[in-house]
Amino acid sequence: MGKVIQLCLTCSGLFLVLLLPSAMGWGKEGHFAICKIAQGLLNKETLAAVRALLPDYADGDLAAVCSWADEVRFHMRWSSPLHYVDTPDFRCNYKYCRDCHDTVGRKDRCVTGAIYNYTEQLLLGVHDLNSEKNNNLTEALMFLSHFIGDVHQPLHVGFLGDEGGNTITVRWYRRKTNLHHVWDTMIIDSSLKTFYNSDLSNLIQAIQSNITGVWFMDSLSWRNCTADHVVCPDPYASESIELACKFAYRNATPGTTLGDDYFLSRLPVVEKRLAQAGVRLAATLNRIFTSTPINVTKLNVLNGDHRTSYSTEIM
Ligand SMILES: *[C@@H]1O[C@H](CO)[C@@H](O)[C@H](O)[C@H]1NC(C)=O
Ligand SMILES: *[C@@H]1O[C@H](CO)[C@@H](O)[C@H](O)[C@H]1NC(C)=O
Ligand SMILES: *[C@@H]1O[C@H](CO)[C@@H](O)[C@H](O)[C@H]1NC(C)=O
Ligand SMILES: *[C@@H]1O[C@H](CO)[C@@H](O)[C@H](O)[C@H]1NC(C)=O
Ligand SMILES: *[C@@H]1O[C@H](CO)[C@@H](O)[C@H](O)[C@H]1NC(C)=O
Ligand SMILES: [Zn+2]
Repeated sequence: MGKVIQLCLTCSGLFLVLLLPSAMGWGKEGHFAICKIAQGLLNKETLAAVRALLPDYADGDLAAVCSWADEVRFHMRWSSPLHYVDTPDFRCNYKYCRDCHDTVGRKDRCVTGAIYNYTEQLLLGVHDLNSEKNNNLTEALMFLSHFIGDVHQPLHVGFLGDEGGNTITVRWYRRKTNLHHVWDTMIIDSSLKTFYNSDLSNLIQAIQSNITGVWFMDSLSWRNCTADHVVCPDPYASESIELACKFAYRNATPGTTLGDDYFLSRLPVVEKRLAQAGVRLAATLNRIFTSTPINVTKLNVLNGDHRTSYSTEIM
């Protein structure tokens, strides 16, 4: 209760969030954790650039606006398809060209397309090439930070037929809900109550100690993009659908009651995805904002071909 009151004071968007079911990305806790982890891994230069872009009410804290994209999803309706990508049923793989479109088939309108889009806007802004496009870089930062979280939620890269688990009704212990919501919110909520004394900062600290401890070597490869690209959401989406098939959908057919067995075996998957999302968000922001010259001929943004235009390389 204390926490809810505190959030009310610090976050004007909370009211909306409480009234609407959050079947729309990691819940508030998940996104908050990801951005907290990321902010702790920013270099000095990037941290300053990020702070300069954050709205005043965030008070220098990226985590405070990490769910902004969910809060505006209803009045910025065009942004709704940018939170996820659907893949063909039971195929258990993801392909940008095949899958990244909205329900009426408009290309690039999915979570990975949005990650390329907002990375590019920030890069253009950093290199002062933004003038005629007039992008709002505060929004670009808030969208990017949110969508790098979403693409790590396995069921945000789920099957088309069940809307990433949204139409699979299950029970979480005694409570009726759907599978998507279990992965957005319920696993994290139950873990907070069971293992973290209902305190999100305890979970965040536990993940942070694993990043500097048992996952340290892994985390070096998590932050890596192949071929020196600035951002690489496609492998993250591939990992997500594989995890969705292996862990989220498995033993969770419609009508199932999910309890201890499911909770205890899936929680480590969720915790690792939060860690990876945080590490990769930080790495991406560090690459965007650290003053490395970029090869502008490769930042071929105006031709509308996202696959080549986004192969932005660091020189
Ligand atoms: C790219 O960003 C602009 C500005 O927010 C938005 O209008 C457009 O729909 C975005 N497109 C994608 C694919 O994210
Ligand atoms: C940029 O977006 C933020 C958040 O939506 C808004 O508060 C701000 O007024 C916008 N800035 C400009 C210059 O439009
Ligand atoms: C940290 O790593 C240990 C050892 O792999 C694991 O048992 C534990 O669940 C992890 N905790 C978190 C919060 O990721
Ligand atoms: C990053 O990935 C490349 C290619 O997979 C690998 O050669 C390199 O060692 C990796 N760097 C780190 C720090 O893991
Ligand atoms: C920049 O990229 C273009 C296109 O790939 C390439 O032809 C050119 O040699 C690159 N310039 C530098 C300085 O690497
Ligand atoms: Zn979302």
